[in-house]
Amino acid sequence: MKTLILSILLSLSLIGCTEKKAEPKAAPAADLSLGKSIAERTCKGCHGLEGGGAAPGIPHLAGQRERYLLASIAEYKDGKRTHAALKDMTANMSDPEVRSVVAYYAGLPPVANVAAANIQLSSPYQEGKALAVPCAKCHGEDGNSKTPGTPTLAGQQAHYLVTAIEEYHQGDRKAAIMGSMLRGSKKLDLEKLGLYYAAQTPAQRAAPPVGDPVAGEPATAMCGGCHGAHGVSTDGATPSLAGQDALYLVNSMKAYKKSRQNWGMQRYIAGLSDKDIENIAAFYSVQKSAPSDVVPSTVKELVDKCNRCHDADSNPAMVVPKMNGQDRDYLVMSLRAYRDGKRQSSMMHNMSFAYSNAMIESIASWYSSQPADKH
Ligand code: HEC
Ligand code: HEC
Ligand code: HEC
Ligand code: HEC
Repeated sequence: MKTLILSILLSLSLIGCTEKKAEPKAAPAADLSLGKSIAERTCKGCHGLEGGGAAPGIPHLAGQRERYLLASIAEYKDGKRTHAALKDMTANMSDPEVRSVVAYYAGLPPVANVAAANIQLSSPYQEGKALAVPCAKCHGEDGNSKTPGTPTLAGQQAHYLVTAIEEYHQGDRKAAIMGSMLRGSKKLDLEKLGLYYAAQTPAQRAAPPVGDPVAGEPATAMCGGCHGAHGVSTDGATPSLAGQDALYLVNSMKAYKKSRQNWGMQRYIAGLSDKDIENIAAFYSVQKSAPSDVVPSTVKELVDKCNRCHDADSNPAMVVPKMNGQDRDYLVMSLRAYRDGKRQSSMMHNMSFAYSNAMIESIASWYSSQPADKH
């Protein structure tokens, strides 16, 4: 029985394949006047008759690739993209109706976008650099600390830096100096600081004042699973230890025994003697670290990567939207949705999961201020 069903399914899918390969059977041509009347009746309130979003957060449809608009509506219909109103509106539309309204919008000239002068083109990296000026007197030039007991921030994971500062504010970590520092800062500013420091090159350290690196190495056997090989972390929530100030490492490990709150770390440190702790600190402090490579320094470098797909519509297997001139808020919302797994596209999720809100806002500002592509 199973094999029967399987073979039926198989032959069905084969039929499906051959049908796909053949030229699409002449689908009835889209009817532009029908499309316009549907737009007038159903879509105008939000997308206008000119295809421009009526409010921030509503995408422009004018001049968008027809294939992409069709694919989006199919996704709203079958629930892959969630939007209650669109699902209801499109549920009862026939295929020719959908094709017609999509053809109508795709054929319109792109909407004129907001003058670029109104949009602040910010590079989170540059802003982070400016915010980091007062930190240099303790954390060193470019985040390379030369003060025993003060951590190096260069090359540190951006997400971790934000968490660490929040922990000082919440009192999970006790340090009078850092507890008051940056209190009241916006999360966005902390993320910018994180991006800036992550991209700095950590300096190689000389022999540490305490401990024995050779004796420390075997004791780190179970640390690498989280902190990465030789202490270079590849996980945003876990700090790199490579190249860190040795005295700071000693202090922070001991802090987990007393006041610093982190259930996982408290467990790992509990069994270590003071001697072990010094040797481990010595080992990690002399390891070579590297700047984090997930952080391009300018928005331009970043969008060059994006445009490999978004500028072209050449790959028939992939349906990619145009983004130049798109509504800024809509771009912010959709990028966050991909990053946070609320909109399905594993490709776009992989592309965006490392981006902070600051990064996403800059990308959106950049695209929305570009002149829209001609047809
Ligand atoms: C109540 C307001 C509203 C109405 C009416 C509306 N839309 Fe939308 N539309 C939106 C919003 C908001 C989004 C973005 C939703 C999201 O985040 O996925 C959207 C997204 C879309 C998209 C995806 C665009 C992209 O760039 O991914 C298409 C296509 C679309 N709408 C077509 C239509 C059509 C066709 C109609 C009329 C049949 C219509 N919409 C009516 C608000 C509306
Ligand atoms: C007056 C000196 C001083 C200044 C100025 C200072 N810090 Fe610190 N910072 C410290 C010390 C000391 C520690 C270690 C505290 C501890 O043991 O937890 C620290 C810890 C940190 C940590 C935790 C690092 C880790 O590996 O867990 C971060 C993140 C940090 N500082 C960021 C900043 C930023 C960003 C600024 C500038 C806005 C700044 N600090 C300014 C002295 C300073
Ligand atoms: C299960 C994952 C995991 C393992 C295993 C682990 N760590 Fe950690 N470690 C973390 C996380 C997550 C943090 C950040 C916690 C926080 O915010 O306080 C951390 C923080 C630290 C810090 C503080 C760094 C800083 O910049 O403030 C040190 C030092 C440290 N770990 C050393 C070790 C050592 C040594 C071992 C092995 C004996 C080890 N860890 C094993 C996950 C782990
Ligand atoms: C490998 C090809 C590829 C690259 C590179 C790529 N994208 Fe995409 N992007 C896609 C595809 C395919 C979709 C449509 C996914 C879907 O159906 O939701 C998409 C959708 C989007 C959307 C939704 C737009 C809309 O109208 O709904 C945004 C925003 C976006 N990408 C931004 C970016 C940014 C920013 C970058 C660079 C950091 C980027 N993409 C890089 C392929 C790519």
